[in-house]
Amino acid sequence: MSPPDPSARHLVVGGVPVPAFLYGTAWKEEATERLTGLALQAGFRGIDTANQRRHYHEAGVGAALQQAFAAGLVRREDLFVQTKFTSAPGQDHRLPYDPRADPATQVRQSFASSLEHLGVERLDSYVLHGPSRRFGLTAFDLAVWQAMEALHAAGATRFLGVSNVGLDQLEELCARAATPPAFVQNRCFAQTGWDREVRAFCRERAIVYQGFSLLTANVGELRQPAFQRLVARVGRTPAQVVFRFALQVGMQPLTGTTDPRHMREDLESHAFELDPADVRLMEGIAGG
Ligand SMILES: NC(=O)c1ccc[n+]([C@@H]2O[C@H](COP(=O)([O-])OP(=O)(O)OC[C@H]3O[C@@H](n4cnc5c(N)ncnc54)[C@H](OP(=O)(O)O)[C@@H]3O)[C@@H](O)[C@H]2O)c1
Repeated sequence: MSPPDPSARHLVVGGVPVPAFLYGTAWKEEATERLTGLALQAGFRGIDTANQRRHYHEAGVGAALQQAFAAGLVRREDLFVQTKFTSAPGQDHRLPYDPRADPATQVRQSFASSLEHLGVERLDSYVLHGPSRRFGLTAFDLAVWQAMEALHAAGATRFLGVSNVGLDQLEELCARAATPPAFVQNRCFAQTGWDREVRAFCRERAIVYQGFSLLTANVGELRQPAFQRLVARVGRTPAQVVFRFALQVGMQPLTGTTDPRHMREDLESHAFELDPADVRLMEGIAGG
């Protein structure tokens, strides 16, 4: 990973340009296709989804991608497509694999179903949606990771990632994996210094930290007078200040906005810069 360049719309991961800002497709149900299409029109070139029908409609994402390709809006090679393997406890009855199969078969079936939903031949990033337990990794998690490594080795996905991990789990995964994650995707709370410890580990290992719920997990902090003053001083929206901060500290933020105006606003967080003192203020906004 290259050092973060605050004005860049791309990060460079393993020599490959990756969009600095991702559009997330959770919780959109029948509006998924339309909203993903609008996000592509607004300029997003990184799309995050999951083969987890309970929260995502991956086939709707695929329909939007196909439409964008057909319309000449974007070429496959200019798009970063990321999806996830979700284990059975995270799924409802609409499983994309046989839950009685061994972990490697589950991963292969889920991956094949993702390619079919998305209408692509390979993925840019394939993410383990989360370890089975809150602490540590289970034999199942490690078997899933090995199956993901096999997909990576076969060239079916450019990168691997892991989501919803604590520092101990990430350290263990990096120690045991043949192919370490290129991405970590976590809910990012200002209360924990915006996941300070995990981000520091990611920085050391050249792992890109993807932050989600940057707005919704931090509603109290974003009401604080210090934040409100900062927003007023820089003349941007609260969301833009949060996303700008995220970009500037090297995070790859996600937004799942359903509002085309917010989509454009969010991408405009590339267009200004926070002073180092304001970045420090944001780092400690929760008082931690
Ligand atoms: N790995 C995981 O387990 C996991 C879990 C959760 C999410 N994710 C990923 O992260 C993505 C984003 O999810 P999220 O939790 O960050 O929440 P989100 O879906 O982005 O929700 C943001 C909320 O803030 C509101 N908002 C107001 N102004 C906004 C602005 N300018 N820009 C953006 N939002 C604004 C949105 O309303 P409007 O719609 O009206 O703008 C929306 O209600 C998901 O779609 C998914 O891809 C991953």
